[in-house]
This record gives sequence, C-alpha cells and structure tokens, in this order.
Amino acid sequence: MMKAKILIVDDDPDIVTMLEDRLQASDYRTVIAQDGVQALELVEQEAPGLMLLDLDMPRLTGIEVLKRLPKVRPIEDLPVIVMTAHASIDAAVEAMKTGAYDFLTKPLDNDHLLLVIRKALERDTLKRQVACLKSEVDGRYASIVGISAKIRAVLESAQRAAKSDASVLLLGESGTGKELFARSIHQWSPRQAMPLVVINCVALTETLLENELFGHERGAFTGADRLQKGKLEMADGGTIFLDEIGDMSLPLQAKLLRVLQDREFHRVGGTRLVSINIRVIAATNKDLRQAVKTGEFREDLFFRLNVISLTLPPLRERSDDLPALAKFFLNRHARDAKRPGMMFSPAAMEAMSRYHWPGNIRELENAVARSVVLNQSDIIEPDMLSLDATGHSSAGERLPYFSLPYHESMKEHTRTLILLALREESGNQTKAAARLGLQRTYLARLIKQYDIGPDQNPTP
Ligand SMILES: Nc1ncnc2c1ncn2[C@@H]1O[C@H](COP(=O)(O)OP(=O)(O)OP(=O)(O)O)[C@@H](O)[C@H]1O
Ligand SMILES: [Mg+2]
Repeated sequence: MMKAKILIVDDDPDIVTMLEDRLQASDYRTVIAQDGVQALELVEQEAPGLMLLDLDMPRLTGIEVLKRLPKVRPIEDLPVIVMTAHASIDAAVEAMKTGAYDFLTKPLDNDHLLLVIRKALERDTLKRQVACLKSEVDGRYASIVGISAKIRAVLESAQRAAKSDASVLLLGESGTGKELFARSIHQWSPRQAMPLVVINCVALTETLLENELFGHERGAFTGADRLQKGKLEMADGGTIFLDEIGDMSLPLQAKLLRVLQDREFHRVGGTRLVSINIRVIAATNKDLRQAVKTGEFREDLFFRLNVISLTLPPLRERSDDLPALAKFFLNRHARDAKRPGMMFSPAAMEAMSRYHWPGNIRELENAVARSVVLNQSDIIEPDMLSLDATGHSSAGERLPYFSLPYHESMKEHTRTLILLALREESGNQTKAAARLGLQRTYLARLIKQYDIGPDQNPTP
C-alpha cells in the first residue's frame, strides 16, 4: 500500500532536509513549503494526508496557518502536527485548541516523530472508516419508504414518540418493518449518539439470554474467568431493542420487569447493584393481549412495555406503497449487482400489486433481490419474481412483447390487435375494420405494412 503524503512546513532549511530524509527513509512521500502562504497553497494543490507545521515562521505563523486552514480544507480532514521550540509551549497549547492533532518539541526525537505521525494517520483512517460505515448504516435505516395514509400515520406517531423516553411496543406481522422502525426511533431520539443495543429474545436459551442481558461477574460459573458486561449495561445512556419479546420465557419476563421498574440489576453471580439509564423499545409479531389472556405473557410487563404502541400494517393493506417499495429495493440490489439499468415490466408490477405478500416487505425485498440475480435481460418479468402460486400471481396472463423496446412493442401490439380482429371476423376485412373503428382501406394498408397473412396467429 502506498504510504501517506506529508507536507513539511518550516522556514529552516536544515530542519526541512532532516525531516525529508527521515520521512522518506520510512517510505512516506513528502512535499515542502517554506512558509505559511505556500503551505496553504500546497494543501489545496497536493492534497497531503498529514501536515507537519512549524509554529514559529515569518510572514504567516503556524497558528495563522491553522486558523486559515478551514477555508482550504476542513481541519478534521487533515491531521496537523505542530512543531515548536521548548520555549513556546503556550503556542503549542493554542495550536491544539485551534485543531492541531498533536505537538512535537524541537529538537525532534526520531522515534517519537514517527510514532506520532503513524498514530495520527491511523486515527484519520479509522475516522474515515467510521464515517463511511455510519453513513452506510444511516442510509440503510434512514429511508422508510411509504406514502400510504396508513404508514404515514404510524410514521408520525413514531417520530413523536422518539422525542420522549416512553417505552414503545411495535406490533405487526413478520417482515412489516418493526426493526426498521425501532432503529429509526432511536435515530430520531435525543439518545441517537448513544448505542442502540438489540436483543433477540428468541435466539437463545434462558440461561444464555440471562447472561446476555445482565452479564456476569468473575467466577459466576465455570469458565467465567472475568467480569463481562451484559447488553443492558452496554445500552446505558442509549436504547435497548427487545426483539421478539413475545418469545421470552416467563421467568426471564419477571427478571426483565424488575429491571424496567428499578432501572437496576445484578450481574449473574453478582451482589453489587448496577444502575442503568435506558430507553426500551420492544417488538413482536405475536398477539400479546392474547398471550396475556392465556398466561404466556405477564400482564404487568405488557403494561410497562405498552406505553406507546405502534402497529405496522401488512403490505397487502398498503398497496399504494408497493410500486415505490419495489423500485426502492430494485435500485438497492441492481446497484449492488452493478446493473443500474434494470426495471420491472408493467406485467411484473401488476403481478406484485395483486400478490398478497404473506412475508410482507421482507418477502418483497427477497423477491426483488432474487429477480436481479436471475434475470438475464434488464426487464424483470413476473416469472422471475417467482411469487407463490397461491398468492394470486398472474404469470400466465402476461404478454411477451412487454420485454421489447417501446417501438417494437407497439408494432407487435398493433399486429396482435389486427390478427385478433381478423380472426374474430373470420378474415372479413370490412367487418374487422368496423370492429376496430378504422377505414377498410387503412386496415388493408396496415395488413400489408405488417405483413399479416391470412393464416397467422396472434402472438400471445
Ligand atoms: N417502509 C420501508 N421502507 C423501506 N424498507 C423497509 C420498510 N419497511 C421494512 N423495510 C425493509 O424490509 C425488511 C424487513 O423489515 P424488518 O426486519 O424491520 O421487519 P420486522 O417486522 O422486524 O420482521 P420480523 O418480524 O420478521 O422480524 C428490512 O430489510 C427492512 O429494511
Ligand atoms: Mg424483526
């Protein structure tokens, strides 16, 4: 991998030569500026990855360079290490306040110099990676597609709920977007800079889930060789998302209830109380009221979780949203597959609108993802969506010329229409023309133009 380009700014040619030698010996690329004005120009022209900046220069001091830097490039984008003589520690402090990453005192110690540079560059790389991942994650969750009145109403309630600390219970069939909403509520809440911790209540056995929630003290059980924080503790200051809460066992429900009441708990095998400040969001596709009636879910816990409840509508009840959702997923998956030109044929759109989507939005996304992989042409036809036959898929009704470009498709359509009219009227052109509302002479011309013989069959 190519090493970073470092801009050296110093008015003392001896120091510049020394730094150049040392940095190049460590495979860094170097650019030299003899004063502050030149430094700012080179930041722009050379786009260095790091700047070593002498504070004590004529024309423009290092501090002034730092202050002007944001006009050229965001300071968080370019790590700056300032260099100063022993005497001017105050200036170094001021430089740090102005946004420098670190400072070095002259005479420079070679090992220390290289270490500070490496740390600064590493931190910069990490910062970029985090920013990149965060924008990717935010992008995945920020986009809730939906224009239907039903989803808009839920969205508005969710946004209002997000501002408070109240517990939210998300209900709805599988694949309706409960997790997406949970993440969005956290994003819109004042806790968004703190962690959102997800606990899947169905995935684990009771003991494991208890351990995962509460953590354990050293020696709590064989193999517990050190203290381990649980997810409740990790969520401190943030939000905890209890997914599939309807599948939690009764004994654990009791323990969870206690935590939610007291905001305190013991780690497994522990005697000290740990207190936490968390916001709770829970989700389930089960009918919790029914579960309360049958004794499978604690009523007191239900009331505690059910402060604000939001029910996500099934996809079949929000068919207004289907085209936008289908296109949204097609964009996402076609982009990932590097096939940006893909689109749905009108027949495919219609088949999707008619299908009842038992797996809701997740099923839609999977169907679209699959069709992107399987489809050879850029137009997705209904059969590529492999919708379950019991779900009123209409694969048999499609017209093959939907996969042609517009003009050819129109030509095929016209041919088919004329052939059908002729067949209906047993080849009688006058009657066929009347049926189509055309002059007989015009129809005759079309028949010639489209080369339609007496014994041909319509395409579909
Ligand atoms: N309104 C929406 N806009 C865009 N994508 C959505 C929307 N709703 C759901 N999705 C996507 O659909 C998929 C399923 O959603 P999610 O996992 O949130 O559903 P769920 O209700 O938690 O399902 P389950 O009960 O099966 O866990 C996810 O990829 C999610 O990002
Ligand atoms: Mg889910």
